[in-house]
Parts: sequence; structure tokens; C-alpha cells
Amino acid sequence: MITIALPKGRLAQETADFFEKCGLLNIKMEEDSRKLIFIDEVNNLRIILVKPFDVPTYVEYGAADMGVVGKDVIMEKNVNIFEILDMGIGRCFLALAGVKGKKEDFIRKKDKVIATKYPEVTREYFEKINHQSLKVIRLNGSVELAPLLGLADGIVDVVETGRTLKENGLEVYEKLFDISARLIINRASLKMKKDLINDIVERIERGLEIEG
Ligand code: PRP
Ligand code: MG
Repeated sequence: MITIALPKGRLAQETADFFEKCGLLNIKMEEDSRKLIFIDEVNNLRIILVKPFDVPTYVEYGAADMGVVGKDVIMEKNVNIFEILDMGIGRCFLALAGVKGKKEDFIRKKDKVIATKYPEVTREYFEKINHQSLKVIRLNGSVELAPLLGLADGIVDVVETGRTLKENGLEVYEKLFDISARLIINRASLKMKKDLINDIVERIERGLEIEG
């Protein structure tokens, strides 16, 4: 049996639908269910639902053989897993953002404070552009509130439709990276369950071709 970790939330349903299209999933995962484990006996699969930032952890330690997770999470966590393919779903981007119309003030400010769920990615980015004296405040969500309440000068966060920024009077200052969901695999599983995993990967690849 192969265990696949999916990220709870918006990407889980999209991934489950995609797997179904690839003929990989023969079960219904009701959206309002509280279950965390789903068994597909036909395909010999076990689906587990975990927090997005925990997907690479389950896969790295082999508690799950494979997982689906956003590139943002992979970049932030720096774990030892094998990223095998881009699933093309969950497309969005990581952005530096702040209060609308205040970009120039933000750029001029010397000791910037950034609030984010992605402290590692944020530090790396500001190091790359040679920005000194940066303070990063780690938050777990609703990051858009930070510049509005004076907790930070800007944020680094995911933007999908842009609605959260817009409805809170913020705007993108800079686009940092494109993001999409990736299929990741535990390194030992890749060797020990080679045939089963190859079969799944091939079916996903075929599904991707059909999708175009
Ligand atoms: C995510 C992300 C942004 C928003 C982007 O938050 O952190 O806030 O979605 O989507 P949009 O551009 O379509 O508005 P999420 O809703 O997952 O909540 P959280 O940040 O509180 O975890
Ligand atoms: Mg958010």
C-alpha cells in the first residue's frame, strides 16, 4: 500500500479531483468530513490529510511515501525529499506586499519589519538583494493584518486571486516566485516501492498531458 499525504484546505480537494481524473482514486472524500485517513482498496492507496507545512515532514520521515504540496512550503522547509513533478495545480505566487500607495515609503525605510509565514524564504530574498537590517516576524495566518496594525512594514505571502490584498487595502510591491503544487516522494520509498510509485507517477503524467 502507498500512503499519500495531502494538504488540508484548498489544495486537498483540487488534488483529489485530479487523482480521480487520473484514475487513481476510487473514493469520495466528503468536504465536511472530519476523517483524516481515507483508504482506497481498489487502488491500494491510503490518503492522509495534514497541515500543508507538515506534508514534507510526513514524507521526509517515511510516514507517508509521497505527498502533494505547494512549492512555497518546499522552499521554506528545506527538507530531504525528492521532488518528482510539477502538478500544475494550485497555481499562485509569493509576493512582497504592503499598504496600497506606500511602496516608495517602504523602499526608503531602513530597518524594515516583514511579517510572514515564510521567514526563511523572506530572509533569503532580502539577503539576495543585499538588504541589511531586516526584522522578520513569523505569523501563522491572516498575515495581511500586520501592516494594517503597524506590526510590520510589509508582508511576504501567497497571492492567488489577489482578493485578500485588495479587500484589505494592500497591494503587491514585488512578485517573488511562481508557485504550484509538486509531487514529492520519500527517498527510501522511491527505491523500495519503485514499481508502485512509478505506476502512480506515470498515471499522473498521463493526466497532465490530457489536461494540456
Ligand atoms: C492564503 C494566503 C493569502 C490568500 C491569498 O490565506 O495566505 O492570504 O490565501 O489568496 P487570494 O489572493 O485569492 O486572496 P488563507 O486563506 O489560506 O488563510 P491563512 O493565511 O490565514 O492561513
Ligand atoms: Mg492568508
